[in-house]
Amino acid sequence: MNILVTGGAGFIGSNFIYYEREVHPEDRIVCLDALTYAGNLSTLKPLLNDPQFRFVRGNIADRPFVRALFAEEKFDAVVNFAAESHVDRSVENPELFLRSNILGTQVLMDACREYGVARYHQVSTDEVYGDLPLDRPDLFFTEQTPLHTSSPYSASKASADLLVLASARTYGLPVTITRCSNNYGPYHFPEKLIPLMITRALADQPLPVYGTGENVRDWLYVKDHCSAIDLVLRKGRIGEIYNVGGHNERTNLDVVKTILAALGKPESLITFVTDRPGHDRRYAIDPTKIHTQLGWLPTTTFEKGIQTTIDWYLSNREWWENILKGDYQKDYERLYGGARLGENTK
Ligand code: NAD
Ligand code: DAU
Repeated sequence: MNILVTGGAGFIGSNFIYYEREVHPEDRIVCLDALTYAGNLSTLKPLLNDPQFRFVRGNIADRPFVRALFAEEKFDAVVNFAAESHVDRSVENPELFLRSNILGTQVLMDACREYGVARYHQVSTDEVYGDLPLDRPDLFFTEQTPLHTSSPYSASKASADLLVLASARTYGLPVTITRCSNNYGPYHFPEKLIPLMITRALADQPLPVYGTGENVRDWLYVKDHCSAIDLVLRKGRIGEIYNVGGHNERTNLDVVKTILAALGKPESLITFVTDRPGHDRRYAIDPTKIHTQLGWLPTTTFEKGIQTTIDWYLSNREWWENILKGDYQKDYERLYGGARLGENTK
């Protein structure tokens, strides 16, 4: 197959490309990525001379550019990871999320129709279901849970999902969607909770925990997400949505304390800061459908995955130190400087 992977210079997309090259070396991968602040070509450096891999810089919302690429490459499948992905940034600038996450999805699907691509796969998120109360551990998100979003980010992802389903119904586009819980692992951009806490703890900097730290996320090691997408791409039923998650719920405070213990750093680094506006309380995926219909199960426990991740950040300092030296540092100060890190709410 000749597969277009969009957003492949980011966290999950790059892990997916490495997964595909390992598990399906016969397939060719074209990575299309705009290289926004979150995209990093150095992540893909080992592949740049691989004859089965091509990197193209471009924006998925740029219709003439996308059409020209599809005309040239005759893709068999498209896996769309490209998106603005950080909730806090969406609170600051929703419009950018609409262009990349919604318009970009439509442009890709229109190109799939025009060039007869056999499968369009949308990488979506559990955030489209909104949140669950903290005192109802019996509740989980299923594929039937109504969409009920909280942030401009999740609203943009839910909008994209609706457009994907509309393209399937109206034009017969052969689509699949996966909605996954929080990922962690190598190449995770250090503005997200786990890599932020690892890199700041290593520098003995305060660790900003929003609100009381009691919010719950359902963590999945990134390679397990990649294996789920691969399975859905090859064996999933056209038109179906599959939830992906490993029943691994932790409070943010638990996650941060686990990282501190693994690094031998003191809990006094934890700093409670002003909460995220509209902060979702709990995410929890019910992955029964993908397990029973496709046989998918995660293989990495949180204990193993978090240690592997910490080890990766320890032995790949250059990767994240280069990011911290760059524009990201300016963004971080602008986003959090006064409003969050300055205010200790406890
Ligand atoms: P990321 O921010 O690390 O990477 C996004 C990549 O997309 C970057 O390389 C960026 O340059 C690229 N990109 C952004 N806008 C683009 C555009 N308009 N055109 C082309 N490229 C563009 O994100 P991630 O965490 O790897 O998430 C990837 C996808 O998975 C997203 O669609 C996200 O909604 C979804 N998702 C993420 C998680 C998670 O825990 N991170 C969980 C479930 C689903
Ligand atoms: O659930 C899937 C989603 O997970 C994806 O769709 C998103 O793209 C991805 O970014 C992630 O969203 P979250 O908002 O859950 O991830 P984040 O790492 O930003 O935050 C995780 C939790 O940690 C959340 O409750 C907010 C909290 N947090 C985050 C940061 C960055 C803090 O307490 N302090 C922080 O500094």
